Amino acid sequence: SAIHRTDTDAGGCPFDPAAVSPTGCPVSPEAAAFDPFDAPYQLDPAEALRWSRDQEPVFYSPKLGYWVVSRYDDIKAIFRDNLTFSPSIALEKITPPSDEALEVLKRYDYGMNRTLVNEDEPAHMARRRVLLDAFTPEALEAHAPMVRRLVREKLDAIIDRGRADLVAEMFWEVPLTVALHFLGVPEEDMEQLRRFSAAHTLNTWGRPSPEQQVEVAEAVGKFWQYSGRVLRKMQAQPRSEGWMYDMIEKNREMPEVVTDSYLHSMMMAIIVAAHETTALATTNAFRQLLSRPAVWDELCANPELIPSAAEESLRHSGSMVSWRRITTCDVEVGGVTIPEGGRILMVMASGNHDPRHFENPDDFDIYRDNAVDHLTFGYGSHQCMGKNLGRMEMRIFLEEFIRRLPHLELEEQAFTFLPNTSLRGPEALWVRWDPTLNPERRDPAVRSAQRDFPVGAPEARTIVRRVRVMRAEPEADGVLGVTLVDPAGRSLPAWTPGSHLDVLLPSGEARKYSLCGPADSGDWRIAVLREEGGRGGSRWMHEAVHEGVELRVRGPKNHFRLDESAGHHVLIAGGIGITPIIAMADRLKQLGKSYELHYAGRSRGSMAFVERLERDHGEVLHRYPGDQGRRLELDTLLAEPGDGTLLYACGPERLLAALEAGTTHWREGSLHVEHFSAEGALLDPAKEHAFEVELADSELTVEVPSDRTLMQALRAAGLDVPSDCEEGLCGTCQVEVVEGEIDHRDKVLTPSERESNDRVMTCCSRARGRKLILAL
Ligand code: HEM
Ligand code: FES
Repeated sequence: SAIHRTDTDAGGCPFDPAAVSPTGCPVSPEAAAFDPFDAPYQLDPAEALRWSRDQEPVFYSPKLGYWVVSRYDDIKAIFRDNLTFSPSIALEKITPPSDEALEVLKRYDYGMNRTLVNEDEPAHMARRRVLLDAFTPEALEAHAPMVRRLVREKLDAIIDRGRADLVAEMFWEVPLTVALHFLGVPEEDMEQLRRFSAAHTLNTWGRPSPEQQVEVAEAVGKFWQYSGRVLRKMQAQPRSEGWMYDMIEKNREMPEVVTDSYLHSMMMAIIVAAHETTALATTNAFRQLLSRPAVWDELCANPELIPSAAEESLRHSGSMVSWRRITTCDVEVGGVTIPEGGRILMVMASGNHDPRHFENPDDFDIYRDNAVDHLTFGYGSHQCMGKNLGRMEMRIFLEEFIRRLPHLELEEQAFTFLPNTSLRGPEALWVRWDPTLNPERRDPAVRSAQRDFPVGAPEARTIVRRVRVMRAEPEADGVLGVTLVDPAGRSLPAWTPGSHLDVLLPSGEARKYSLCGPADSGDWRIAVLREEGGRGGSRWMHEAVHEGVELRVRGPKNHFRLDESAGHHVLIAGGIGITPIIAMADRLKQLGKSYELHYAGRSRGSMAFVERLERDHGEVLHRYPGDQGRRLELDTLLAEPGDGTLLYACGPERLLAALEAGTTHWREGSLHVEHFSAEGALLDPAKEHAFEVELADSELTVEVPSDRTLMQALRAAGLDVPSDCEEGLCGTCQVEVVEGEIDHRDKVLTPSERESNDRVMTCCSRARGRKLILAL
């Protein structure tokens, strides 16, 4: 490579002077100016790196001596490969310590070494595997009552006060107490531990001044000695409950895997890892929610969304905003060659705001269905082991406040942050409320009417929105047109043609209905065909849905996206399948694109939207009402594959099957269809065989028994696999396959995508043989 690192201190130039172009230094002015200790990054790291996401996603920062990586995909690729990108510098002092500070640390015999988070393979996975038991969902579930009790005690103490700094009152102390309980460490001087943690943060990720260096070193030295004392005390006691006792036991059983040096270093590092991360994540969540009163109110009205709101907060304003790796060889990242020994700062806060992965990334959207993809917990074999404990704490805090203090308000205040590159959250959060309005004064039952959430990533099916029926009128024979609005009178979110809603029935089952537009009306319109032979959903809709009724819906989601770039579009609708097709036609017309629309129905009277179609799309509309003897002749329509033509179809399975059969001579990928049912995707344990999946990124092996889907097995092993439809229709749960033959059951992949055997829908597809290797 033409470039190499010439020194290891911040400020050195990593570029070979001989390789610099005649135009000068290859470091752009923005890169040269970047300093994570300046106000913009300290106040809002995602915003401070917007220029980088847009123009220069991987750059060398001379002021920091690090390569900064700001896009989602690049960060994930680095997390994926912990051999090329070693985590060994994850806890290194980002500002080199002064001689005086080193003197102080020596006096305390400070010997912080590898733990888990900064250990290389193969030692890391060997250790991680034997220490996983404390993190199973069942093991974590057992801590929920303790978290609940601690939060409740703290809330009781302030509930009649009317004003509080939530950080000082509980957000740091509860996570610290939980961490100590989880570890089995006796509760000691909590104030002192908090000071120790802050010193550790400054020591690892800060830029202390020369005087501060010595102060920080004193505190870190004391923390180190304290950790040693506590460890020795625990080692001398009989085994008791707590993760630290698991480690002590493994250290006795397999000292070469769980080493002595690991134990002492971990004792100190884990208190910080488990405590400050969660304290700040909680503070960030409350700040974001309370600064958007409408969102807070929405959450109060719909507490089912708490897990999803907590997750969105981890995405939008995570507490761990950057993390480090060092390259073990020359390697390309996002088109830039980073030389061996290159130190990398991955800014997850920036990746979490990357529009290439998250739609409208700067919006705080508690209905977002891929928030769980955020990078705040890292990713891959080092991904945060405690993520589900952190999530549990955030959810319980939110749930208690939303129930007991729904009238909570954020005070005007200037937020301050401990200056550092990685751990982020305000040092205080002042809130106020009127105690005379506390709901429990009127109804004491409110105090204990808790709602619990299952351990793990939020479930997509709980992301439910309440909408009100503004109009429900016949649209055609047996077809009910329904217009939905936001109960609080706001505009409902925009959607794209092909999107649908899942409407929840009283039974909890869901039915999919395409949005038919017009798209810019601020409301949502669907049309429901009454199906007497169906499962009863459409009958309920026809009987129970009328003006003023509230419905619970999920979405809009789009599994039937329109490629607007095609030269010509053939839109085909059978019966009620017109609903997504009419939205597509509107869009194509608006764009001035070439399209034609074929609409077949049983009878003229049963065909919805005919007048609107004639008015808006009359010139390209072909109608085939069965009772008038007109038939859609697919053979003729499909005879000549159009160059650059795409077909979009929705209607009865019979029509879609005929289209699939009739387009085999078309270029693959020309036909796009919307399926509303997924026969064959559901699991029948009697017909399945068990298999094994090896997870290349996480370095784990997971058994998939015959009565579990691949997705269920992955989730039980602690992986956050996003999902949506869970029946093979949407593609959300796709995972890359490294090796092994797949038994595809989804309706998303095209035949050649299936044959390429490189991806699997984990909600429904399985292994043909005994084993798959996945890039997870
Ligand atoms: C690792 C964030 C809570 C224990 C990590 C990493 C991050 C992180 C970014 C590095 C991941 C990587 O290298 O891929 C967070 C955040 C938390 C949180 C944002 C709270 C919201 C916790 C809690 C515990 C914990 C409560 C302990 C009970 C760990 C451990 C690792 C880790 C043991 C090292 C895993 C390994 O390297 O194999 N965490 N963490 N974390 N975290 Fe957390
Ligand atoms: Fe929709 Fe798997 S979740 S295809």
